[in-house]
Amino acid sequence: MKLPLVAAAAAGMANAASLLPGSADITARALPDAPDGYTPKEVACPTTKPTIRDADTLSTHETEWLKVRRRATLAPMKELLDRLDLGDFDASAYIDRHSSNIDNTPNIAVALSGGGYRAMTNGAGALKAFDARTENATATGHLGGLLQSSTYVSGLSGGSWLVGSMFANNFTTISNLQASDRVWDLSKSLLEGPNQHHIQLLSTYDYWKTIIKQVHSKSDAGYKTSFTDYWSRSLSFQLINSTTDDGGASFTWSSIADMDDFKAGQYPMPMVVMDGRNPGEKIIETNATVYEVTPWEFGSWDPTVYAFAPLAYLGTEYANGSVHGDKCVRGYDNAGFIMGSSSTLFNEFLLQIDSKDIPHVLEDVIGTILKGLSVNHEDIAVYSPNPFHGHRESGADEDYARTNALSIVDGGEDNENIPLHPLIQPPRAVDVIFAIDSSADTASSWPNGTSLVATYQRSLEASQMANGTSFPPIPDQTTFVNLGLNNRPTFFGCDPKNLTSSASASIPPLVVYLPNAPYTHASNTSTFKLTYSDEERDAMITNGYNVVTRANGTLDSSSSSTWTSCVACAILQRSTHRTNTSLPAICTTCFEEYCWDGSVNSTVVDGYEPTAYITEESAGSLGRSWPGLYRVMAGMGVGVMVAMGIAW
Ligand SMILES: *[C@@H]1O[C@H](CO)[C@@H](O)[C@H](O)[C@H]1NC(C)=O
Ligand SMILES: *[C@@H]1O[C@H](CO)[C@@H](O)[C@H](O)[C@H]1NC(C)=O
Ligand SMILES: *[C@@H]1O[C@H](CO)[C@@H](O)[C@H](O)[C@H]1NC(C)=O
Ligand SMILES: *[C@@H]1O[C@H](CO)[C@@H](O)[C@H](O)[C@H]1NC(C)=O
Ligand SMILES: *[C@@H]1O[C@H](CO)[C@@H](O)[C@H](O)[C@H]1NC(C)=O
Ligand SMILES: *[C@@H]1O[C@H](CO)[C@@H](O)[C@H](O)[C@H]1NC(C)=O
Ligand SMILES: *[C@@H]1O[C@H](CO)[C@@H](O)[C@H](O)[C@H]1NC(C)=O
Ligand SMILES: *[C@@H]1O[C@H](CO)[C@@H](O)[C@H](O)[C@H]1NC(C)=O
Repeated sequence: MKLPLVAAAAAGMANAASLLPGSADITARALPDAPDGYTPKEVACPTTKPTIRDADTLSTHETEWLKVRRRATLAPMKELLDRLDLGDFDASAYIDRHSSNIDNTPNIAVALSGGGYRAMTNGAGALKAFDARTENATATGHLGGLLQSSTYVSGLSGGSWLVGSMFANNFTTISNLQASDRVWDLSKSLLEGPNQHHIQLLSTYDYWKTIIKQVHSKSDAGYKTSFTDYWSRSLSFQLINSTTDDGGASFTWSSIADMDDFKAGQYPMPMVVMDGRNPGEKIIETNATVYEVTPWEFGSWDPTVYAFAPLAYLGTEYANGSVHGDKCVRGYDNAGFIMGSSSTLFNEFLLQIDSKDIPHVLEDVIGTILKGLSVNHEDIAVYSPNPFHGHRESGADEDYARTNALSIVDGGEDNENIPLHPLIQPPRAVDVIFAIDSSADTASSWPNGTSLVATYQRSLEASQMANGTSFPPIPDQTTFVNLGLNNRPTFFGCDPKNLTSSASASIPPLVVYLPNAPYTHASNTSTFKLTYSDEERDAMITNGYNVVTRANGTLDSSSSSTWTSCVACAILQRSTHRTNTSLPAICTTCFEEYCWDGSVNSTVVDGYEPTAYITEESAGSLGRSWPGLYRVMAGMGVGVMVAMGIAW
């Protein structure tokens, strides 16, 4: 690999760390690699200093990593496609035939929406189903191996908690997270602190004392903090699998790039999405600046910023794209802080906490923090110093080039609650996005396509914000509800011929929209429900598993096609279009059934109250022995089930 030294240092913490005095011991384990816990620390810069680059291409790191990863997806993809079954079409042979030009093979991404713990758990069900390591996930009717076949996984807000839980914990499995006695105990609120399976290691008092000390230490070191820092620390206690009782204070996001299996392309590249709030701006418009955090970089493709900064050296002072002075900063990209920055919406939630929930002894200190939040509207994360200071002063939005601090807010505040932005950037050439939507768009907290509408609208903006991105046509929300597009999987952009106006424009990905819907559980819990028993959590996860597998294929009898085969068609569509290969007839049936056909129905509807596809009881006990029963019930309204004495 001929990477410039600085690039190599940013990519590999082992390299970077070896340049730091007295840090040899931290290279043994990659993740907790911050030099001073939560507090960013000045260190000597690597020999070639980090620089800010324009967003005109993929980073060298990503390009180099893709060479390894894309190739590593082929074996799992062949196994997956063969299992999903396209009849006479030999998908495995097809992939082999085209593997000499990797650009011709399918490039798959998964996007996990925001929506608090609802999104984290529903999304977890999807990842569990897509993961070949999950028990039975490679059985007929399941989708295990899709994760192993994917190149990218993006998350925002509650979806970023999920991405962080998996990728900042060494690509652990959802089953491990569920079984863990260190993380994912949602039975106690983040206010009370970790309840290590009912033996509380830290008292609530010690927990807050630790958090406050960590945040104060960051601000004492001269870095601006906001309420998001407290929020981020508490999230980290919940999500990062740390053996120490400091809530994983030393885990950085950039260290993901240093994990051996990641470097070897053994799993997808995680990305977290956040929004920018223009200095002085109050409301996030659909033209908000969207930031992404990869394992190597922080920045934005949008013309306002149009630049990326090396993630491992976030916190370093730059001027005009070069390090200002000779000190670099490490440890700013704390993993919890990245997740907290993507989910600042929950700052507002903490504002509403009843003071009686606050442990007596902490009333003063938390009261003071909350007062600061409500007075200063500090629902932001502060990224200071601004790495883009002075960069592109004439080209980019001047505000971003002049401000000393970037204001970062929840990735869903621009209504694009599914993190599609990084996945529709033409240089990434994604073919198909499995878009998991756990948004609460309706009064009953179900999705209705709002996020897809927002992404489509933005792509149409004649203004500069679309900046070369394109997105398949998406109908209005009323059509989503009237046609049931938000109640079952729907494909958008099936026909590439309908998608490009000019020959040079790139074809956007096919979007496999997988909306949260009640299969085995009423999974429309409130975004602000911040405690779940283990049973509720697991029921949400199982429901998510059922959403993406159409109840492991058991709903197929009410369809003209087999769901898993249709997933294979979606994966192969763009690739076969490029290679001029015909898909089998089974795909024609699939596209007729699952593709939005362009029709709209904007008749105003009176609410959206979906009924369960399957009852929890039948899925749990009767289901396994009598799969036929679901088929019967899938066609029934809830009233019939009630009449049969089946409880919702
Ligand atoms: C990460 O997981 C892999 C695979 O399970 C394991 O081989 C490796 O030792 C783990 N790395 C760390 C740093 O825990
Ligand atoms: C996996 O399948 C086996 C055989 O059907 C079954 O006994 C077992 O309970 C399944 N495990 C899970 C986690 O569903
Ligand atoms: C947490 O880390 C321990 C080892 O330190 C490991 O045994 C366990 O599987 C990890 N759990 C998760 C969910 O990653
Ligand atoms: C975003 O939209 C608002 C309202 O239409 C407008 O005032 C603002 O200038 C726009 N910002 C950019 C960067 O286009
Ligand atoms: C995207 O924005 C940048 C910065 O304004 C500009 O240089 C570039 O040409 C734009 N790309 C496209 C495809 O419009
Ligand atoms: C589908 O499979 C998963 C994992 O084996 C299981 O938990 C779930 O209950 C199954 N769904 C149905 C409807 O049986
Ligand atoms: C085909 O393209 C037109 C023009 O963009 C759009 O109105 C229509 O909805 C598209 N049809 C489908 C099925 O996407
Ligand atoms: C969940 O959805 C059902 C049916 O759509 C609705 O009756 C119920 O009120 C919803 N629950 C919440 C918490 O919104």
